[in-house]
Amino acid sequence: MGIFDHWHPMVSTRNLTHKPKCVRLGGTDIVLFRTKSGKIGVLDEMCPHRRMRLSLGEVVGEKLMCKYHGWTFGCDGHGESPGSPKLHACASSWEAKEEHGYIWAKSKTSTPVFPKFDVEGWRRMCILEQNVKAPLELVVDNFCEIEHTPTTHDLFGYDLNRMHEVTVRFETTDDTVKVINHGPPKSINSVIRGMVGIKKDHIFNDTWTTYFSPVYSVYDHKWMNPETGEEARVKWRVYVFFSPVSDHESRLTAFTYAKSSWRLPLDGGLGFAHRLMRRKVRDEIGLDVAMLEGLASHNTGIEGMKLSRFDKVLAMNRERIERVYRGKSEQESRRLKIV
Ligand code: FES
Ligand SMILES: [Fe+2]
Repeated sequence: MGIFDHWHPMVSTRNLTHKPKCVRLGGTDIVLFRTKSGKIGVLDEMCPHRRMRLSLGEVVGEKLMCKYHGWTFGCDGHGESPGSPKLHACASSWEAKEEHGYIWAKSKTSTPVFPKFDVEGWRRMCILEQNVKAPLELVVDNFCEIEHTPTTHDLFGYDLNRMHEVTVRFETTDDTVKVINHGPPKSINSVIRGMVGIKKDHIFNDTWTTYFSPVYSVYDHKWMNPETGEEARVKWRVYVFFSPVSDHESRLTAFTYAKSSWRLPLDGGLGFAHRLMRRKVRDEIGLDVAMLEGLASHNTGIEGMKLSRFDKVLAMNRERIERVYRGKSEQESRRLKIV
């Protein structure tokens, strides 16, 4: 398996109209389009004739027409030239799927399992997309440890002066890494505290599992009483997908869900909170992005770094990114001296 063999989120359903859209993945430009009947086509961006960008073309019925000489291509990549009807041309095509408000794509030859969304009983609050000028591994590093949360974040995280009290635990399988953290939360403004129902005796509990086909983490954020297990009124589940745009740029796609136990209409009041929650999640992700863009090096190796107890996960993730996501042999992954 190489990176194109996994299902990646490409563009939101809302953003794919009949106008073709170019998305870059792993350094390759890919064009997505929706035909008049609503089918989705995913092709290599470069026209096989004279290399025009197909995303500059237009949808004509069930085909995408290249802007340069008017050749047309179906969703399966089959092409026709108006000037040379007997010429056989074919654009490389991808497999597409529309799920969870997004268009997903992968190579035609692979058969990976589609990412499982365990969101029964949760309300989808927003989907956000953000590019980061940093390599995939370094972005995943940031999203998989909580030591940065006191200094980087506004809402989700721990109190800097009590970080030594925060516990971190790891559970792994061959192709997943789970991280379980809890400890004293950072101070949060009283309006948000009231809306979420956070009490004085609550700790912050942050647990996530990272999967590697494609690379994504599923976060459960909640505040709770550690003795009784009683939880705050609102909790979050966020699916964050990490896609490489190129060797030096990544794309985050975050699907945010929430659950509320307030006795209010529209799922415990969540129906009224979309805008606020969207802004909060966007701001929190923006804080990570700003921090990542301050990195002095894009070297993705972990040798030579002085790592803390929160950073053990970096090596666990690296090995699985190499082996499961990039399809390197077990031997090669181990050669990187990452366990
Ligand atoms: S370059 Fe596309 S039709 Fe000629
Ligand atoms: Fe963060």
